[in-house]
Amino acid sequence: MLRRACFTFLWVFPLAACFAQTAQPASQPATPAPTGSVQVVPVPPTPQPPPAAPLPSPAATAASPQPKVTYSQCSVEGSYVAITFDDGPSPENTPRLLDLLKKRGLRATFFVVGQCAVEYPDIMKRIAAEGHEIANHSWSHPLLSKLGEAAVTEQLQRTHDAIQQTAGVTAKVMRPPYGGFTANQRVWAHKKWGYKIILWDVDPLDWKVRNAGHVESEILKRTVNGSIILAHDIHKSTVDAMPGTLDGLLARGHKFVTVSELLAMDRPTTPKPKPVAVEKAPAAAAVAAPASTPAR
Ligand code: NI
Repeated sequence: MLRRACFTFLWVFPLAACFAQTAQPASQPATPAPTGSVQVVPVPPTPQPPPAAPLPSPAATAASPQPKVTYSQCSVEGSYVAITFDDGPSPENTPRLLDLLKKRGLRATFFVVGQCAVEYPDIMKRIAAEGHEIANHSWSHPLLSKLGEAAVTEQLQRTHDAIQQTAGVTAKVMRPPYGGFTANQRVWAHKKWGYKIILWDVDPLDWKVRNAGHVESEILKRTVNGSIILAHDIHKSTVDAMPGTLDGLLARGHKFVTVSELLAMDRPTTPKPKPVAVEKAPAAAAVAAPASTPAR
């Protein structure tokens, strides 16, 4: 049985992997091969500006005309949020979580590990029957950004099939273990399975701090409209935290939807106008917090 949770180095690997793209082999060439018989006339080099232009950030990539593939939160009208549970199903904890959700009439999204899905098909059926979304979290929870295309295909296809066979539903979204998925892999998985890649903006570190009070307070502190909340239904302390967490979010007016429903509500964000320069900015402005919490 797999009992692994998501660890802290999530953003180290994806970033490292992104920067390593040029060293990737064959399947995704860095530059397209020339086509046709067009004669390429050498062009004299143009003078380059002295400082090297920075690489586009993931945020800049997301803002390009390309279809949006990766989400760590959504921009929605209304107080909708999506709570997600990774790494199960767990025979000890998932049924108890389902009871808590059912009692409150709430729906969640379960990012299941394929080898657990085939081990507990009855729990898979129950998750689907009670209206929750089931999504792909790989077969055995490896760091996908370090694997080649064939291995990643096996990890995702086996799980995609296991979800269909056990629960009778088709996964529409996936979450890479540890958040580790390169930019090329994200586009490729979207083309191959139609998956949107789901990260998160609320992380209570429930795999690390096995304390229900901590999990509850972190989620209540960080959740905003459009949040995608990360939790793990393999940990008893996480499920213990859910009565207070769910009731607390409800008391604040939040409405629970599945990840796919939240994505369907996502609206393009208009860039904020640049602030007009005023007199000397106060020192505090230089250390203002970022606009949004970066997902790990
Ligand atoms: Ni995980």
